[in-house]
Amino acid sequence: GVKKKEVNVMVVGLDNSGKTTIINHFKSPDAKSHDIVPTVGFSVERFKSKALAFTAFDMSGQGRYRNLWEQYYKECDGIIFVIDSSDKLRMVVAKDELNLLLENPELKNRTIPILFFANKMDARDAVSSVKCSHLLELQAISNKPWFICASNALTGDGLHEGVEWLTDQLK
Ligand code: GTP
Ligand code: MG
Repeated sequence: GVKKKEVNVMVVGLDNSGKTTIINHFKSPDAKSHDIVPTVGFSVERFKSKALAFTAFDMSGQGRYRNLWEQYYKECDGIIFVIDSSDKLRMVVAKDELNLLLENPELKNRTIPILFFANKMDARDAVSSVKCSHLLELQAISNKPWFICASNALTGDGLHEGVEWLTDQLK
């Protein structure tokens, strides 16, 4: 068969937002983890969409590891930013981290796509993806294509829609 185009994506967002669970959903059955634990540092994972072969840098969202994110910005073709839509208390922390990312010299002037997952939409107190995008002021992002998708990483709802958008941006 024809070899798929290889792309690098970074998966970032606060700890406990669901990054590793989301990536796990896309892995082949034999590569899937059954027991997901908080990521230490980062881990490199591979999965495929219809047109692309992804290498995903699954970064830890814990405060003490967030300074690792910027070390990989240079090599990435796209970003997946995961938000816990039920974590209202830390929405402002997520917004601060997003702003640091957008202002980082490695990314500031690049038109790379950002896919947002408003994850944990199944949680009783989850806010809508529209509300998430207002809270994070996504409308202010001027020089990068972005898309926000409500998701439930436990069932997979919304995940394919998001990755299809990212695939269209990168293929
Ligand atoms: P770090 O590696 O610490 O940065 O966290 P992470 O963003 O990788 O989160 P992880 O995938 O480890 O998930 C954290 C917890 O949230 C786990 O208990 C998951 O089962 C749970 N979780 C992930 N996605 C969802 C979701 O969509 N809904 C619900 N209810 N729980 C979820
Ligand atoms: Mg993780």
